[in-house]
Amino acid sequence: MSSLIPLILSLLAFLLPADGTILQNGQVRPTNYPDTAVSINEAWTTYPPNSSQISYKGRWDDMYISWWSAPGLKFGFTGSEVAISFGNYTDDGNLIAYRYGGEDWMLTNVTANSTHQLVTSSTLGYNTTAANTTRTFELRVSNWALGVQIDSVHLSPGGRLVQLPSYDRTVEIIGDSLSAGQYATLEGIASWAWGFGEGLGNVEFSIEAHPGICLTDIICSGNNPHGQLYQWFKTSDTSYRATQIYGSNQPDWDFSAHPAADIVVINIGTNDAGSSANVSDAEFTANYITFISRIHCVWPDAQIVVFSLWGGWSQQGDTWVQGPTYVQAIENVVQAFSGPSTPAPYGGNSSVCQTASANYSNVTSDTPQGRGFVHYFNTTGILQHNDIGPLYHPTDVGHVKLASHLMQFVKLKFGWMFGAIGPEVQHETQYWNDWPNN
Ligand SMILES: *[C@@H]1O[C@H](CO)[C@@H](O)[C@H](O)[C@H]1NC(C)=O
Ligand SMILES: *[C@@H]1O[C@H](CO)[C@@H](O)[C@H](O)[C@H]1NC(C)=O
Ligand SMILES: *[C@@H]1O[C@H](CO)[C@@H](O)[C@H](O)[C@H]1NC(C)=O
Ligand SMILES: *[C@@H]1O[C@H](CO)[C@@H](O)[C@H](O)[C@H]1NC(C)=O
Ligand SMILES: *[C@@H]1O[C@H](CO)[C@@H](O)[C@H](O)[C@H]1NC(C)=O
Ligand SMILES: *[C@@H]1O[C@H](CO)[C@@H](O)[C@H](O)[C@H]1NC(C)=O
Ligand SMILES: *[C@@H]1O[C@H](CO)[C@@H](O)[C@H](O)[C@H]1NC(C)=O
Ligand SMILES: *[C@@H]1O[C@H](CO)[C@@H](O)[C@H](O)[C@H]1NC(C)=O
Ligand SMILES: *[C@@H]1O[C@H](CO)[C@@H](O)[C@H](O)[C@H]1NC(C)=O
Ligand SMILES: *[C@@H]1O[C@H](CO)[C@@H](O)[C@H](O)[C@H]1NC(C)=O
Ligand SMILES: *[C@@H]1O[C@H](CO)[C@@H](O)[C@H](O)[C@H]1NC(C)=O
Repeated sequence: MSSLIPLILSLLAFLLPADGTILQNGQVRPTNYPDTAVSINEAWTTYPPNSSQISYKGRWDDMYISWWSAPGLKFGFTGSEVAISFGNYTDDGNLIAYRYGGEDWMLTNVTANSTHQLVTSSTLGYNTTAANTTRTFELRVSNWALGVQIDSVHLSPGGRLVQLPSYDRTVEIIGDSLSAGQYATLEGIASWAWGFGEGLGNVEFSIEAHPGICLTDIICSGNNPHGQLYQWFKTSDTSYRATQIYGSNQPDWDFSAHPAADIVVINIGTNDAGSSANVSDAEFTANYITFISRIHCVWPDAQIVVFSLWGGWSQQGDTWVQGPTYVQAIENVVQAFSGPSTPAPYGGNSSVCQTASANYSNVTSDTPQGRGFVHYFNTTGILQHNDIGPLYHPTDVGHVKLASHLMQFVKLKFGWMFGAIGPEVQHETQYWNDWPNN
């Protein structure tokens, strides 16, 4: 019953973000975001993109171009005003979210080769008397297909950049359009992956998700040249711009230059099940086992959470029925790693892990594979048919439900406490039923 859903999903996955009209409380939501483009004065202090005080979040390449879903940056600063110059590789009309301290996110469109002033004295929460104290600035790219390139950061006279400490814990999220936030109101920053990472509040997180991508390393949904089995090892994603910038010679992600993930969450396979890929259950299971093995080869101490695929809903008689995808195939994957916890035989060298197959694609009950680190996250029953929008992806509410359940799962399973205790996580979601008598 669910077989039609992945088909539709794959067919739609390559479309660029729709210019949809968002209604809230019956009114068209304003999207005329403030124009922040400026020319800055030479008296400002300019910092290059490789300044050690700038912490990049998610995957960025050596040219400071952002990749995958919801990448961003964070730094501390003193002084009063902040501007950022975006390089030529920035996509035009790219909607970014940014914020001052723990205030609500603000939105603006940026373009290639332009400078945008993002902190002024009228910025939300701005404190005119705090010039000599360190304040926090953060930025995130909202759309999974568009990137920014950081050319430089500018501070008004007297200001300086300050490096902020990173959180001790790191989370990695791997997926397709369902995790990249495709068709959600604010895309990447409305996805369950964002809601989970940002919602935990005290972790660094990175979302390697792209619409249409398969797990299996095949051309998927028409325009994804590789599956996650291959692409996850690359800095860049499977977008058109990645092909334009790098061709087929995409840079490897330097795992050794970044903290190991403590928890890896994977939600992949809906496109493998689609008719354009039509990967068999047995092949999907084998590929998934290889993928997990390779991830654990890179990060031997990681705990890995595997999503069941919620699939689609169909009307049956007078009710609705959920039809999940690859149910047994994914249970078999988890089963392959079950048993008492044992260490992995080797780890850390990602050039070996990338193609590892000898010990890592052949899990049997007597392989010294490393066990007990794969956990099944059963998504069945979290979403209902109306938590999926007309384009077969979760609504904003659906994303919030998934994020909330996963947060609780991680809290119960690993004892992690929630660290977001005030600042908003999902921007612009308060409009539902926000009026009395409405
Ligand atoms: C940043 O890049 C410049 C020029 O490429 C180089 O001279 C400088 O040493 C780099 N700074 C850091 C902190 O890496
Ligand atoms: C953008 O391209 C122009 C023309 O090629 C070049 O002069 C300029 O330095 C580039 N700027 C950036 C930020 O890459
Ligand atoms: C700003 O970004 C939004 C979201 O991607 C887009 O719909 C809108 O057209 C952009 N606006 C401009 C002026 O580029
Ligand atoms: C970038 O801006 C500079 C200065 O305005 C201009 O000379 C250059 O042609 C621009 N490059 C691109 C690629 O737009
Ligand atoms: C503004 O900053 C000053 C100096 O750090 C601080 O004493 C004051 O409490 C801040 N005001 C607000 C409203 O945060
Ligand atoms: C910031 O520090 C400088 C030098 O210490 C001082 O001259 C200035 O008055 C201070 N500004 C504020 C707003 O406290
Ligand atoms: C998918 O593959 C199966 C065999 O594994 C075949 O029976 C089925 O017809 C294929 N479906 C499509 C839509 O290609
Ligand atoms: C990783 O393994 C490759 C292939 O065996 C080897 O060439 C390389 O030197 C290793 N790198 C490190 C950092 O150990
Ligand atoms: C595979 O496992 C065997 C048995 O534990 C071990 O001797 C061998 O070195 C491993 N191979 C690699 C490439 O690590
Ligand atoms: C998997 O392991 C079995 C038993 O050790 C071995 O016979 C077989 O060749 C292995 N297959 C691969 C693809 O490594
Ligand atoms: C997943 O949850 C559904 C609904 O609660 C349940 O029917 C199913 O048995 C569960 N699957 C596994 C493998 O636990």
